[in-house]
Formats: sequence, C-alpha cells, structure tokens
Amino acid sequence: MKKNTIVGLDIGTTKICAIVAEVYPEGPPKIIGIGHSVSEGLHQGVVVNLEATIKSITSAVNEAQNMAAVAVTDVYVGIAGEHIKSTNSPGVIGISNPDLEIKKKDIERVIEAARNSVKLPNDRQIIHSIPQTFVVDEQTGIKDPTGMYGSRLEADVHFVTGAITYVKNLGRSVERAGLNVKGFVLEPLASSNSILTDDEKKLGVVILDIGGGTSDIAIFTEGSIRFTKAVALAGEIVTQDISKVLGISYDQAELAKRKFGVADKRLITEDELIEIPGLNNRPTKTISRYELAMIIESRMRELFEFALESMKTSSYFDYLPAGLVLTGGGSLLSGIENIAKEIFNLDVVIGKPQKFTGLSDVAKSPIYATGVGLVLYGNSFEQINQSFKNFDVSKTQETVNTSKTNTSAKNQNLNSVQNKEPQKTETKKDDPIDKMKIEDFKTRMVKWFQEFF
Ligand SMILES: Nc1ncnc2c1ncn2[C@@H]1O[C@H](COP(=O)(O)OP(=O)(O)OP(=O)(O)O)[C@@H](O)[C@H]1O
Ligand SMILES: [Mg+2]
Repeated sequence: MKKNTIVGLDIGTTKICAIVAEVYPEGPPKIIGIGHSVSEGLHQGVVVNLEATIKSITSAVNEAQNMAAVAVTDVYVGIAGEHIKSTNSPGVIGISNPDLEIKKKDIERVIEAARNSVKLPNDRQIIHSIPQTFVVDEQTGIKDPTGMYGSRLEADVHFVTGAITYVKNLGRSVERAGLNVKGFVLEPLASSNSILTDDEKKLGVVILDIGGGTSDIAIFTEGSIRFTKAVALAGEIVTQDISKVLGISYDQAELAKRKFGVADKRLITEDELIEIPGLNNRPTKTISRYELAMIIESRMRELFEFALESMKTSSYFDYLPAGLVLTGGGSLLSGIENIAKEIFNLDVVIGKPQKFTGLSDVAKSPIYATGVGLVLYGNSFEQINQSFKNFDVSKTQETVNTSKTNTSAKNQNLNSVQNKEPQKTETKKDDPIDKMKIEDFKTRMVKWFQEFF
C-alpha cells in the first residue's frame, strides 16, 4: 500500500536534514526516515553557492528516502536568515453585508487592509500573513469573528517578509535537486510547532533556536505569534573563537566544543586537561577544558545579550510567564540554561521535538526541532486541505465541524482556521446555487489558508 507521507527539509547553515513521516487521518505523524548532510552552500541561513547547496540537499534527501523506502518528491522547506523581518499591522474595514454578519470574505478584506498599510519595498515579499486577534465593534480579543454580527472589523496581523532574491535562490536550489516546494515555512515558526505546547503559547513564551549561522527568535502570546527575528550570532562563531584562541583547526575546535564544551565554566575545575585528536595526521593537542569553557561562555553571553536586545524591541517581551525555550544545536551545550537564566531573567528550558512517533531516539534532539516542526506544519496544512476535498455538501455543518475538531489539536499556529465556531448551515439540500456557494467557500478557504501560511 502506498504510504501517505510528508517531508520536512531543513536547509540549515551547518547541516541539511530531510525528515520523512508517514501521516494518518488521526493521530501524530510517524517518522520513518531521516537524512543528513553537511551544509556546504549556505552562509547565515542564505544560499551563497547554488551547486553546493543542491548537492547537499540531494545527499540528505537520498539518505532519508532510502531509510523510509519511499520516493521523496514534495517538501516543506524552512526559511530563515537575517533578511527575514516581521511586523504587526492593523487593518480596519466596515461590514457591508446587509445583515451585518461577518463572513470569510470580510476576514480576507481586513487582512488585505492590514497588508496595504505595510510598506513593502520592491525587493521583499510576504512569506506569512498570520492574523492574531480581531476586534468586532468594541469587542476585543476575538480569535475568529466568522458568523458574528458587527459593523466594524479590525484585525492585528503578523507579517513575515523576506528578500525576494534569497527566497528565490532557496526555491531554485530545492527545485534543481528535483523536488517540488510545497511551502516555505519560517524556521522558528516550524520549530515552535514541535517544541512548544499550546499552553505555553497561550501563556506567553519566547523561543531561541541557536543554529550554526543564525539564532532565531519567536515570541508567542495568547496563542499567536507576535514577533520574529534572526540574529547573526550562533554556533559557528563560537567554534571560530575556539579555533583562533586555542590555535587549533576549525574542525578540531568543532570537535572539542561538541565533545567537551560547556557554556558555564563553573561546571569545570581549572586543572582539567583534554586531548583533541589531531586531524589529517597532525599530532594530538592537549588543552585546558576550563579555558575551552571560558571561550564558549563569553561568546554565549554575548550571543544572549544580543538576542535580548532584539527581543526587547518587541513590546510583547515584557510578560512571558512560560519563559524562554532554547533549541537548535547550540542548546546542546551543558550549563547553557544557567547562563541564559542570568541574562534573560526568565525560566529556561531546552525544547526537544515532540508530537510524533517513530525514530524518537534520534529525532528528539533539539537539532531536529525545525525538521520535525516542518513535518507537523505540513501535516496540519494538508489535513485542512483534505477536509475540504472530502467536503460533503449534504452534511455541511457536520463536515466543517469535524474538520475543526480534527485539526485543532494539531497546530496552534493554524488557529485562524481551526478555532471556528460551528458554521451555520443556511443551505437547503440539493439546491445547485447553494452548492456553488459552498464550492466557492471551499475554494476561498483553501486559498485564504494557503496565502496566510
Ligand atoms: N553536542 C553539541 N554540543 C555543542 N554544540 C553543538 C552540539 N551539536 C551541535 N552543536 C552546534 O550546533 C550548531 C548547529 O546547530 P543546528 O543544526 O541547529 O544549525 P543549522 O540548522 O544547521 O543552522 P541555522 O539554523 O543557523 O541555519 C553548530 O554550531 C554546532 O557546533
Ligand atoms: Mg536551523
């Protein structure tokens, strides 16, 4: 039997990873294949060498599809880098329907109004438009106003934008590797799918995904994403420092960091010595582990201070009861929570991917937060599309409600579509005009959703 699969492709600065998961109408996805390669063609999240990137993508995807024993054709691709910017913008419209009931098209219009007030330079494109909350007349804090009555509708919308050329180069690399891009997903948004609970997002939480080239920030409050930013300080800079200060090669420094590195020097005694194997027939080098820890700690403190400054530019940073969740390969350094707690003055935990079955021994590492998150994102997205394909016009209300129930537990980020109140059925069975209206509604909902996410 042909497996129904979804593939997440995390094109990171240091590693490219493809995750293949089998998906079902109910329940979590099951990861059946993981493939990796060293990322050769990226710098700080953006493609700088197309051919090298294509080669690395092909190698990771081949490994994943061999393990999964399925052919990979379509992928959800993570996107990040300093070129990514985000902004919140309000939109306001009057409700024109004679009965003042708010319809889906009004939601499209208010988001369009918010989009029109964003000044988008010619060289940038919108990657996500995510509605956060709505106001109907004077009533605030509404997650989904569909079906409510009102004369004025306002929306706060979070827009994520990227440099067109960078987005195109990423897409080109994936396509030249023989794959079809099903969607680009902001990497910290993908990571948040796999490592955060709905409760954390409702309470208020910030994630910091410490990768190789960039550290990506995302803030959530009241279940919605509020702020995203990437800072160009991450694991590679730490390795470069170790290499320079200790006079060892980059590869030796990377090995030393991963094997013996800690982010809090208080965890190490000053007299501890470690041996770093010589690479390419060079002699073994003996170094002080305390000195290694000092280098790592000072760089991590600097990285955190930098990230803190970025976070403070968001007004949502002031109240985050669920604290800070660290993830990405950089979060694997022992003692990193101690340093983060001191600098951010927040509760700190390490975020590991959840909400899936299969290969959990491997995939529960923070380095897979984005890859697993891409799979979860794709699964929620396709379940919503599927629920519309299976739409039975004679059971309008039941089918719409079922689609809501099936998807709502999966992905808080999709709440603009999920958290619907039951739709009122205004249709008479077998009325061709009403059938057309429902078809139109289905098409618009899918289009609306595709555009927003
Ligand atoms: N066990 C470990 N201990 C310390 N650091 C580690 C460990 N494993 C990986 N890292 C560091 O994590 C970084 C890579 O993390 P990750 O795989 O999340 O990055 P990426 O996704 O390739 O990059 P980016 O997200 O910036 O594009 C590297 O700098 C690496 O040195
Ligand atoms: Mg990454």
